[in-house]
Amino acid sequence: MKPQVGIIIGSDSDLPVMKDAATVLEELGIGSEVHVLSAHRTPEAVVEYVKKGEEGGVKVFICGAGGAAHLAGVVAANTALPVIGVPIMNKTAQGVDALFSTAQMPPGVPVATVAINGAKNAGILAVQIIGAGDMGVRNRVRAYKEKLGADVLKKDDKLQEKGFKKYLEEQGLI
Ligand code: RP5
Repeated sequence: MKPQVGIIIGSDSDLPVMKDAATVLEELGIGSEVHVLSAHRTPEAVVEYVKKGEEGGVKVFICGAGGAAHLAGVVAANTALPVIGVPIMNKTAQGVDALFSTAQMPPGVPVATVAINGAKNAGILAVQIIGAGDMGVRNRVRAYKEKLGADVLKKDDKLQEKGFKKYLEEQGLI
């Protein structure tokens, strides 16, 4: 599949979290590519990739970075395409540093920031953005969300049938 979403991670240490974006994109039938490029360690390569990605048909960028997370902002500064930022949790500041660095963009250069480690939602949001102009894609997102709802209702049926104690016992939670 031709990549419509360009995923950039500031370090390969972000990949265990950011794989969730690539996985949900795959599930929803959207091609993506993942690159390790850092706003601080390889700033020129970030700008180069943004241009190359745009030329290659990327429609949305997803950027995951931790700490002083400037990656999504730098990408947003260099493209007119939508940019989604994923703040990555770290041990020293639990990802709050990355959340603020990613979200607090100046007026005119937005980054749509998801939750700390919210890579899955970043992937879904990217599909929804693409789906705004593609009814087939939009219908796939609709079906995905309907299944989420159906799963909740199934759980409620089971909870009513078994009662909370048995429900938790069966999951090994009490
Ligand atoms: C950020 O610094 C990366 O996005 C990563 O979350 C963090 C640590 O990077 P490594 O030292 O693990 O390469 O730029």
